Order: sequence, then structure tokens, then C-alpha cells
Amino acid sequence: MMKRIYVIGIGTGNQEHLTVQAINAMKTADLIFIPTKGADKEDLADLRREICERYLEGDAASKTVEFAVPARNTADPAYGRSVDQWHAALADIYVCLLDKVPEDKSGAFLVWGDPSLYDSTLRILERVSGRCSFEVTVIPGITSIQALAASHRIPINLVGKPVEITTGRRLSENGVQAPSTIVMLDGNQTFSRIDDPHMEIFWGAYLGTKDEIVLSGRLVDVADEIENVRAAARKKNGWIMDIYLLRKGSDFQE
Ligand SMILES: C[S@@+](CC[C@H](N)C(=O)[O-])C[C@H]1O[C@@H](n2cnc3c(N)ncnc32)[C@H](O)[C@@H]1O
Repeated sequence: MMKRIYVIGIGTGNQEHLTVQAINAMKTADLIFIPTKGADKEDLADLRREICERYLEGDAASKTVEFAVPARNTADPAYGRSVDQWHAALADIYVCLLDKVPEDKSGAFLVWGDPSLYDSTLRILERVSGRCSFEVTVIPGITSIQALAASHRIPINLVGKPVEITTGRRLSENGVQAPSTIVMLDGNQTFSRIDDPHMEIFWGAYLGTKDEIVLSGRLVDVADEIENVRAAARKKNGWIMDIYLLRKGSDFQE
């Protein structure tokens, strides 16, 4: 038998986002890898530690292995190249982590939200698959998109209409392309530069956590408020994760 690597979606900040399948996989894994991203994002590492303490029933200390995530070179103007180099550095770290898992035993990566959405754990495991042998099992988790929809009590799509999921960077380059657009990874509040009196926004930060904030309304009416609330929250907490839905039109309107 080969080593097994679980890639476990842990939801977006609420310990109760974990599924029974995720908890069982954590209990089964012999080692659990916890990424740390420096003092600013210590809250996120703490959340993973708390999840381990809550669900591993006394085994957390003996099973968890922390590793520091290197920073991407954001000074590089070629975004793709900087991500590729960052993944190469992470791949070297993954090889060391996988070496710690004895043959026939298992390790687990705890992934924020779900591993399928703007997360590179699976991509990096694919990248190292020629350097070590292991099998991967993916356990799905609650994404920030689901957390946003739940907190606003809305469906994401309009009836029979498509949804685009994009980043702040792409939104700024391409503008709004779909009736419903989910925007993630936007450190530049790109929504504030969209000039459309009919656009609605459903915004959420720290979704699932005790600090959750949600705001919604016509973009022209609430954009300034969101910018101010966001800036104040970021200053207070030292970090922020936010996501929003831009929506134009209504159900049954062609
Ligand atoms: C690297 S992506 C990870 C997405 C994650 N895999 C998921 O399933 O949601 C990080 C982005 O997800 C969004 N995000 C993740 N967690 C969030 C949260 N608790 N509240 C608001 N947005 C969140 C933000 O747009 C953030 O910039």
C-alpha cells in the first residue's frame, strides 16, 4: 500500500463548517500539516489549530506538523511567473512534509474553504507526484461562495442564468461579463470603479468567523460604505478576506 494524502476542505472560519467526512479523515490521518503565513495571518493558523484540538480528541499535539508558507514575489510584474516560482518553492516543502509520512500511513492538508476553488494544494501535489509516491483523497468543504450566499440568504444565480467566478484582477481587466459575478481575491476594491446604476452588490468579509461582516444594496448606494468598513476592519484585525457577488437584472427578466 502507498502513502495516502488527504486534502480536506475545512470551510471558511467556522469550526462547524467541517463535514463528518472531514472530521473522520482528520482522525484517520497519521499526520496533519498546518500552514502558517506569518504574524499577520496568525488568526488563520490558530483556527486550524483549534479545529485540530476540537476534533482530534487529545491527539492534536502528536499529529500536527506546522510549515511556513513562503511569500509569493508580488514585485514580479509577470503574475503567472511569480505564481509558478512560488509553487516550485512550495513543492520542495511538500516533498519534505511527505517524507515525514511513513510508508502505508497517511497525512492530511487542511485547506481553507474547498480545495477546488482558488487553492493550489492539489496542483502542487500533482507537481510533486514524480518525486514521491502517494495517493490523494479529496474531502470537499464549504467554500466562501457558499458562506456568502448563506449569510445573505440568497441564491447565487438568477433563474436559468450563468454565474462567473473571477478575481479582482480579472474584473478590473475585463469588467462584468455575467448577470451574476462572484469576485474573490480582490485587494483593490475593484467594485468601487464599476459605474452602473443597476448593479447590486452582496459583500461579505471574515465569513463564518466571529468577525463576519455583510453589506448589500445597490452598488452606487453602498460602495463607499463597504470601502470604509473594509478599511477599518482590515486595520483592526491586521488582515481581511472578503468576497462579493455583483448582480444585474432579476429572475425571469430576459
Ligand atoms: C486563496 S482564495 C481561497 C478560497 C477557498 N478555497 C474557498 O473555497 O473559498 C482566498 C479568497 O477566498 C475568499 N474567502 C475565503 N475565505 C473567506 C471568508 N471567510 N470570508 C470572505 N471571503 C473569503 C476571499 O475572496 C479570499 O481572497
